[in-house]
Amino acid sequence: MTDRDAALDPAALDPAAMRQQYRAEGLTETDLAATPVEQFARWFKQAATEGRLFEPNAMVVSTADAEGRPSSRTVLLKHFDDQGFVFYTNYDSRKAHELARNPHVSLLFPWHPMARQVIVTGVARRTGRDETAAYFRTRPHGSQLGAWASGQSSVIADRAALDATYAELAARYPEGEQVPVPPHWGGFRVAPRTVEFWQGRENRLHDRLRYVAEADGSWRVERLSP
Ligand SMILES: Cc1cc2nc3c(=O)[nH]c(=O)nc-3n(C[C@H](O)[C@H](O)[C@H](O)COP(=O)(O)O)c2cc1C
Repeated sequence: MTDRDAALDPAALDPAAMRQQYRAEGLTETDLAATPVEQFARWFKQAATEGRLFEPNAMVVSTADAEGRPSSRTVLLKHFDDQGFVFYTNYDSRKAHELARNPHVSLLFPWHPMARQVIVTGVARRTGRDETAAYFRTRPHGSQLGAWASGQSSVIADRAALDATYAELAARYPEGEQVPVPPHWGGFRVAPRTVEFWQGRENRLHDRLRYVAEADGSWRVERLSP
């Protein structure tokens, strides 16, 4: 069978028949770092260096509107430390509107080639303008213009309208010229309340260890059934 025939074989495309056996190396309570952010740093380093992942910092952010209706999308993690996990976006976007009404958020890192996922739940707050401006300055010129050109999540007439807006901005701010930080653009920092580390194991007997924030600022670890 050629690759093309295999690709056309309906059985090969049946999701019900797709099944991987996950690697045996597990995650134990004694392996874990004292804090979830330290543990995340360990796994993130492995994901970035050994994970064969195109974008290890890509994460799925889920929000819910005031009525509890969920929505999800991928964004890029740009910073993490004991204060939380930071991403940047448009403050007029759907996610930002939802977070303004309901700051509870879930972040999911789908590190499939490593049979791992990390799920953070917590509360999102806007980053300060200084922090936003410092990050904006590190972005490539074209991305800075893109942040101005896009009214993210709004309906637009066509692609040409977007390209025309970008071209106008590029003429106004040629390469080398400082682009101001758009007032409608900035970061969110998600302060974690729970962080689950999921390691795929054989026979679907996966390891799931979850840090839960205690009122005194310490972390409790619990094991979840797979
Ligand atoms: C790999 C990847 C990375 C992305 N990174 C970001 C990001 O860092 N910030 C962002 O606002 N959108 C990012 N997007 C686009 C979002 O998924 C989404 O389309 C956009 O933020 C609008 O979402 P909303 O309408 O739900 O608010 C990324 C998409 C992909 C596929």
